[in-house]
Amino acid sequence: MKTLVLIFCAAFVFGPLSLAGADDSTLAATPPMGWNSWNHFACKVTAADVRAAADAIVSNGMKAAGYTYVNIDDCWEGARDEQGRIQPNAKFGDMKALADYVHSKGLKIGIYSSPGPKTCAKYEGSYGHEEQDAQEYAAWGFDYLKYDWCSAEKVYQRRQMTEVYKKMHDALVRTGRPIVFSLCQYGYERVWRWGASVGGNSWRTTEDIDDHYDRMSVIGFDQDGLEPFAGRGHWNDPDMLEVGNGGMNHDEAITHMSLWVLLAAPLLAGNDLSRVTPETLDILTNKEVVAVDQDAKGIQGRRVAQEGLLEVWAKPLNDGGMAVGLFNRGESSNPITVNLIDIGVKGSANIRDLWRHKDLGAFNTNYTAEVPRHGAVLIKVQ
Ligand code: GLA
Repeated sequence: MKTLVLIFCAAFVFGPLSLAGADDSTLAATPPMGWNSWNHFACKVTAADVRAAADAIVSNGMKAAGYTYVNIDDCWEGARDEQGRIQPNAKFGDMKALADYVHSKGLKIGIYSSPGPKTCAKYEGSYGHEEQDAQEYAAWGFDYLKYDWCSAEKVYQRRQMTEVYKKMHDALVRTGRPIVFSLCQYGYERVWRWGASVGGNSWRTTEDIDDHYDRMSVIGFDQDGLEPFAGRGHWNDPDMLEVGNGGMNHDEAITHMSLWVLLAAPLLAGNDLSRVTPETLDILTNKEVVAVDQDAKGIQGRRVAQEGLLEVWAKPLNDGGMAVGLFNRGESSNPITVNLIDIGVKGSANIRDLWRHKDLGAFNTNYTAEVPRHGAVLIKVQ
């Protein structure tokens, strides 16, 4: 019935570059999934919020859907003791106890620092204490480090960035504990070209996201062209999810999630999980949608067609199928057509709606769907 032929023409070349030094390939073999405190709690975060997030991930189905890392962002840091050892601030108390708690739920835990003297929120950074901090994180039981450039700008030249990030990576490796290394330096110095070579499991490709369609969509749709640099163990990171934070409507959240999974982006929920609505949970935990992100082939999708504000993106999947997103960035509903030839399909193919878990049947040459303003349709073509 179906004839799916991949046409390897110049207009449609996928495949990660093989990057020297991309070690730790079993760490973050698929894009990391979990939660991070920043987008909702920012500097107000406490240990209780982190425990509540871990509790919620287990009870609300997110753990079953693949969300694993419970990541503390900035503002946990206190002063250093006489030996220079970093201490948490009063909102956090005992970090080992917190890590033990998160581990007891079958989850992993992440922490945050900066290579500069201060973090972006002006807390203590790791400058001059890299080895000591890595050892401390490992002793506490942390599994993930987001390392945020921030005030490093004041003590280093940008061209030193690779050695600055490699220094912390090497310190993490010396702890003997597998710790996902998440680079955050906003895409400076074309980080996608060297992030993997300094041990990065992911690297932010942009400045910060916020909870508005305009910002989210500019970041997401501007990722086109970065796909050659992502692959198993090392991912482009267009920043954390804003789904459920209140600033985007349902269709906009569907666009956000559809785009992030096609981009093989880390899926770090950024909302308050103790108050999550069923609608938000449905978006975060849709199995067939999350499976696109976590696909074992590890290929980041790209834009394959554009007609004004209407776009089609595609991501090749391990089973030979293709995940395809139809995106309407315009201000009114519009039909969007996928020409099957644009995604390497000659003849007819079966199409399934991934959000709705519905087989749509066999289509010849093209497929058209009505897509709402700021909305998306996500299909699998096979
Ligand atoms: C930067 C990062 C954000 C967040 C804040 C914390 O802005 O890009 O993701 O970590 O710092 O201060």
